[in-house]
Amino acid sequence: SNAPKVALLGASGGIGQPLGLLLKKNPNIAKLALYDLVGTPGVAADLSHIDTPAQVSAHTGPAELVSALEGADIVVIPAGVPRKPGMTRDDLFNTNAGIVRDLAEAAAKTCPKAFLAIITNPVNSTVPIACEVYKNNDITDLKRIFGVTTLDVVRAQAFVAEKKGLDVNKTTVPVIGGHAGVTIIPLLSQVKPSVKFTDEEIKALTERIQEAGTEVVKAKAGAGSATLSMALAGARFVENLLNALKGQKVVQCSYVKSDVIKGIDYFSTPIEIGQNGVEKIHGTGPLSSYEQSLVEKSVPELKASIEKGVKFIRVHD
Ligand code: APR
Repeated sequence: SNAPKVALLGASGGIGQPLGLLLKKNPNIAKLALYDLVGTPGVAADLSHIDTPAQVSAHTGPAELVSALEGADIVVIPAGVPRKPGMTRDDLFNTNAGIVRDLAEAAAKTCPKAFLAIITNPVNSTVPIACEVYKNNDITDLKRIFGVTTLDVVRAQAFVAEKKGLDVNKTTVPVIGGHAGVTIIPLLSQVKPSVKFTDEEIKALTERIQEAGTEVVKAKAGAGSATLSMALAGARFVENLLNALKGQKVVQCSYVKSDVIKGIDYFSTPIEIGQNGVEKIHGTGPLSSYEQSLVEKSVPELKASIEKGVKFIRVHD
């Protein structure tokens, strides 16, 4: 619509609060609905004092979920429990799978045409979960369901620009695959502006990008995982979705239903997004032999994470 509504589910959390702030700052959002199990009235009162157009509303607990979602053009989901040291994103599965299932079910029923941007980890599994829920609700067009992998791109751009002394504002790095460990595949052969790396630099940068989330988990020493950089990445993703809704062709990396890699149903590559969601999957582009080997290495793990998500819904039907 001309007055876009964004619903933020998990609005009181470590990601939710700074993401809410960045969305409130976005002058193109007309309505910002904050939903969480706790704390939403306070966050909403606080944000509503900012002198930008978005009308902020608070919705607390399952009884108020439908009112948060009604008329939403974009639903952003950071609800869930974060990682602690020693945990992988997959360790979050049992709690977060149920949360995403219930929120996706409500979105499928209340705002089936809204774009769904999923931040809740493990994204490699939570996106398939949301898609299975939509299918169960007779929604076969899954082009509006996105896993937010923008933080991998943000990190890759920051680390590459720092390492090579580039202007970070002008550095772009595509990141493909999934959103956990070895499934994160930065394409350093496709960095713009084009730049030469030694094999050692490529290996070190790739591993740092893959382990960047864990770097934050360790540094936070039990207090959780990335929140501020994730909020920035989420806000950037939503901004691109808003532009797509306005009719612009937007290209960005996202983990979506995709058949670019044989044998797996979900994969992130640059995709073109329009008013109805994913319009074109650009594919991986030409890969170096190192990148090709990373893709091959990611397939078994991605496949297992996807199957785990799909089974979670089929067994719990
Ligand atoms: N519905 C709505 N909100 C929920 C639900 C639910 N069913 N369950 C939990 N929440 C809320 C919590 O009340 C809390 O406000 O989600 C928020 C999560 O915030 P944090 O615990 O601070 O976690 P955060 O660091 O924001 O990470 C959340 O994002 O990147 C992922 O791995 C991360 O999956 C984790 C999620």
